[in-house]
Amino acid sequence: MKEIKRTTVTAALPYANGPLHIGHIAGAYQPADIYVRCLRLRGKEVLFVCGSDEHGAAITIRALKEGITPKAIVDKYHAMMGKAFTDFGINFDIYHRTSSELHRKTSQDFFLQLHANDAFTEQEEFQYYDEEAKQFLADRYIKGTCPVCGNTEAYGDQCEKCGTALSPKELKDVRSTLSGSAPVLKPTSHWYLPMERSQQWVEEWINTGMLDGEQQHLASEWKPQVLGQCNSWLKDGLRPRAMTRDLDWGVPVPLPGADGKVLYVWLDAPIGYISATKQWATDKGVEWEKWWKSDETRLLHFIGKDNIVFHCIIFPILLKMHGGFILPQNVPANEFLNLEGEKLSTSRNWAVWLHEYIERWPDRQDELRYTLASIMPEFKDSEFTWKDFQDKNNNELVSILGNFVQRVFVLCNKYYDGKVPEPAPSSVEAGEQDTVLWAELHPLPAKVADEVDRFRFREAMASAMNVARLGNKYLTDTEPWKLEKTDPERVRTVLYNSLRIVGALSVVLDPFLPFTAAKLRTMLGIGILPWDDAFRNDLIVPGASLGKPVHLFKPIDDASIAAEVERLHANKPKEVAPTQAVAAKPAKPMITFDDFAKLDLRIGVIRTAEAVPKADKLLKLTIDIGEEVPRTVVSGIAQHFDPAVLPGTEVLFLANLEPRKMRGVESQGMVLMAEDAEGKLTFVRPAAAVPAGSEVR
Ligand code: 2FM
Ligand code: ZN
Repeated sequence: MKEIKRTTVTAALPYANGPLHIGHIAGAYQPADIYVRCLRLRGKEVLFVCGSDEHGAAITIRALKEGITPKAIVDKYHAMMGKAFTDFGINFDIYHRTSSELHRKTSQDFFLQLHANDAFTEQEEFQYYDEEAKQFLADRYIKGTCPVCGNTEAYGDQCEKCGTALSPKELKDVRSTLSGSAPVLKPTSHWYLPMERSQQWVEEWINTGMLDGEQQHLASEWKPQVLGQCNSWLKDGLRPRAMTRDLDWGVPVPLPGADGKVLYVWLDAPIGYISATKQWATDKGVEWEKWWKSDETRLLHFIGKDNIVFHCIIFPILLKMHGGFILPQNVPANEFLNLEGEKLSTSRNWAVWLHEYIERWPDRQDELRYTLASIMPEFKDSEFTWKDFQDKNNNELVSILGNFVQRVFVLCNKYYDGKVPEPAPSSVEAGEQDTVLWAELHPLPAKVADEVDRFRFREAMASAMNVARLGNKYLTDTEPWKLEKTDPERVRTVLYNSLRIVGALSVVLDPFLPFTAAKLRTMLGIGILPWDDAFRNDLIVPGASLGKPVHLFKPIDDASIAAEVERLHANKPKEVAPTQAVAAKPAKPMITFDDFAKLDLRIGVIRTAEAVPKADKLLKLTIDIGEEVPRTVVSGIAQHFDPAVLPGTEVLFLANLEPRKMRGVESQGMVLMAEDAEGKLTFVRPAAAVPAGSEVR
């Protein structure tokens, strides 16, 4: 294998059809971020690209649901996801988008080159067409009865009840989700990728790493479950796959006679990595080709397991048929993350959403990053629970890391007025306890790096935390607080060594806990140290001023965790019994449109909720409706909701109701609620996330 000079890291382009949750982060983005940070600290040349996947039925279906255009959907979620990544310290070199002009051109040129290389076959097929909606139906627009389990709500590509992968023609009693009518079969022609032609080389390349007589990767470095999934596809035999679709949202097929046809989203999306690279290079005024075309470049795709075949089989075939591109050297896909015993699910709102987490746990990104890295589903599915989040915070971050740093800084403040002490000459690594300490510490940075290189992020973070564990043990063994009176010179050495350990922590923890690492650097008054300098002993300079001791982590109490769990359950849509309709009241007298237009209805987000003293029906809420100061409202819902679970809840809000005093508090608007036959109240909320203050019309 050629010597590697640089690494191109891609993280799966998330669909711009909803916000990000912890499953996305643990699956692809945090491992990629850890990997990139670690390489950068080791002085390696890396490019880290990502962006929003803005085409395909995932987007148009969401647009239909929210009643807005696909363009409005992708604009909204592109901005939201970009912010969530930044908030969590995941900083791509570029976060691009596949609706851009550069991407259109890049993917059309790619398609045309494939076409010129005879990579496609053109085939006519009968596909379902909705005569009312006047369009061919993507698989997700088709519903019918599953031939395997009889579920009447199966989709054209999959039955979500029994998990069987389907094709639309296998369904019985087919209907269009656009109009509800029964679609007809109509001929249409598409460009297919005859993947069976590549069966042999793909099989060899994946399993041996050999391609065109050259060793391209070591299969032993690929995760077994990735190889397993690829081989199960290969065993079934690769088959032709359509690379175009009849849709009006996507990259138009750049050939004559292809009106109304767009590129298949799984053709256009991975090319998005290339267009993102091009945009980055243009912005920087540098060349892009070396990141994709040099055999001295290592290409890595970080993805979740549902994307394996696209990145390990289909995209490599496309890259090879196009010519001139390198293939991925590894695809370290993660498995799935579950939440509190159930699968994460967007439709069932069973998720911890990043934009909500950051609101409820401000400045505590590293606490979540730590938990997710320690349970990362590297080789099998794993599970996030709020209890585990609390335990990891309290028992590891607070007790081990926070405690060590706190003790060192408190003692340095107390004994040396916040300055780095002068160690005893030539004794820094010489005493017996010190010799043992350094013998254990010195190998750790290399160990962490090696584990990161092998995509063992859980182990790597545990090794980095061992630096803090050893620091604590060193303090406990040396007990400097007992020696200050009798042997101040020894105490200076111990605390000097301890500060060096804090310095090393600011390096080895940076890939995992970047916010904490930055705080450590500020406290020590140092910049980012290169990885190999983690323990260089001249970086912590005697006499230099130290920052104030700060609590890096705070314990999390049981009530906060119970509130999160309750919130999760409260926000899950209830299985609504189809009967039990409320007896309709006679309609109120007609109003004019002008009357209606007088109402200032908005989406608000509850920020705080508390009981009103001596009023068992009332809660005092503050509600963010996009104004500078949240509105205060007194609402008669105390018997229906626990105030602890309300912050973060979206509500329908009437903003121009005359203010009114209740129990001495001015109520500045009204939260609108739905009431069932038994008088049970429930919030009326938007079907998808919208910013506080969004108008309701
Ligand atoms: O599964 C998904 O969310 C896809 N949007 C991933 C695309 S990855 C790449 F090919 F762009
Ligand atoms: Zn089924």
